[in-house]
Amino acid sequence: MQILLTGGAGYIGSHTIIELDKAGYDVVVVDNLVNSCEISIQRVSEIIGKPIPFVKADVRDTAAMDAVFKKFKIDACIHFAGLKAVGESVAKPLEYYENNMNATFVLVDTMRRNGVKNIIFSSSATVYGNPAIIPITEECPKGECTNPYGKTKSMLEEVLSDVQKADPEWNVVLLRYFNPIGAHQSGRIGENPNGIPNNLMPYITQTAVGIRKELGVFGNDYDTPDGTGVRDYIHVCDLAAGHVAALKAIERKCGLAIYNLGTGHGYSVLDVVNAFQKVNNVKVPYSIKPRRAGDIATCYCNPAKAKAELGWEAKYGIEEMCRDSWNWQKNNPEGYK
Ligand code: NAD
Ligand code: UFG
Repeated sequence: MQILLTGGAGYIGSHTIIELDKAGYDVVVVDNLVNSCEISIQRVSEIIGKPIPFVKADVRDTAAMDAVFKKFKIDACIHFAGLKAVGESVAKPLEYYENNMNATFVLVDTMRRNGVKNIIFSSSATVYGNPAIIPITEECPKGECTNPYGKTKSMLEEVLSDVQKADPEWNVVLLRYFNPIGAHQSGRIGENPNGIPNNLMPYITQTAVGIRKELGVFGNDYDTPDGTGVRDYIHVCDLAAGHVAALKAIERKCGLAIYNLGTGHGYSVLDVVNAFQKVNNVKVPYSIKPRRAGDIATCYCNPAKAKAELGWEAKYGIEEMCRDSWNWQKNNPEGYK
């Protein structure tokens, strides 16, 4: 089977290529490189020991997408392509709505016209808003998203669900990722944020390597065991393996299915900082700062549904996540540059 990965040059996509290859799938990557570079594809190619068909194109470009579907015999798509910076989406709502919504509309329409009706969509725990149930199950009602990025994920879940309802031949898997961190064990690929990182782990690794002076811990007065925010961090390689499990479900004709992909463990900001320092024997200077607007106290999932129905569960713990994040950063202090 040949799988089209939109946004496959990015952080999660690049790791997913490796898992797909291990499981015997062929891939094609389409990416406009707006938040990535072709070096990631070259390095994945070195890791798997074979060339990776790559098309530099914007998913919103109907003609380019049609050409991809004519050239390759695509069986299913994993739709990673999208803009993902929460803060930037508040400052640039039009750009986020336009890119994330239109890329999905063009992709799904192109799939339909070419008779391909299998899609896995990168959704996010952000659709739960401030979650009504902890640990979060898939039955937890969706909540209010405080930013345009999260709203695109929530709306696109609805769009794809309606497409599947209108034509039950579609198989649509919505994967709600929790907080991916870590990197491939080779240290050759990893997360490569542009500019000052928004997310916790790249900020920690850049502080440890000396690019940033200190980590700001955003609030220590939440209703959590140590007052700092609690999240469900998941190793990106585990997350990548979740996509293979979802493809198997598609091969079994799953119709519409929604899964949380997380470990089910909640770690606070200080838990992560302490684990990182201990496992890697490096210092991460930090100071407590005010809360960040829009943050919630606690977010972790119950991943039982993915285990029961997909036979998937996360294998790696917080130590391995911290070790592999550091291995990537120290070997590539400036990312792919
Ligand atoms: P990423 O930015 O590293 O990868 C996304 C890729 O999509 C990039 O390579 C970018 O160049 C490409 N892209 C964006 N718009 C495009 C377009 N119009 N046409 C072609 N390519 C385009 O992000 P990631 O962390 O790998 O995330 C992958 C997906 O998972 C995204 O949809 C993201 O919103 C979602 N997600 C990520 C997280 C996270 O914390 N990393 C959490 C939940 C969900
Ligand atoms: N944090 C800090 N300092 C930092 C960065 C983060 O203390 O410099 C704290 C945050 O306040 C939060 C925790 O670390 O308590 C995690 O923050 P991240 O920014 O790494 O992750 P979020 O949970 O806020 O959001 C991420 C993605 C979203 C996605 C969500 C759920 O950025 O896109 O996970 O998947 F929707």
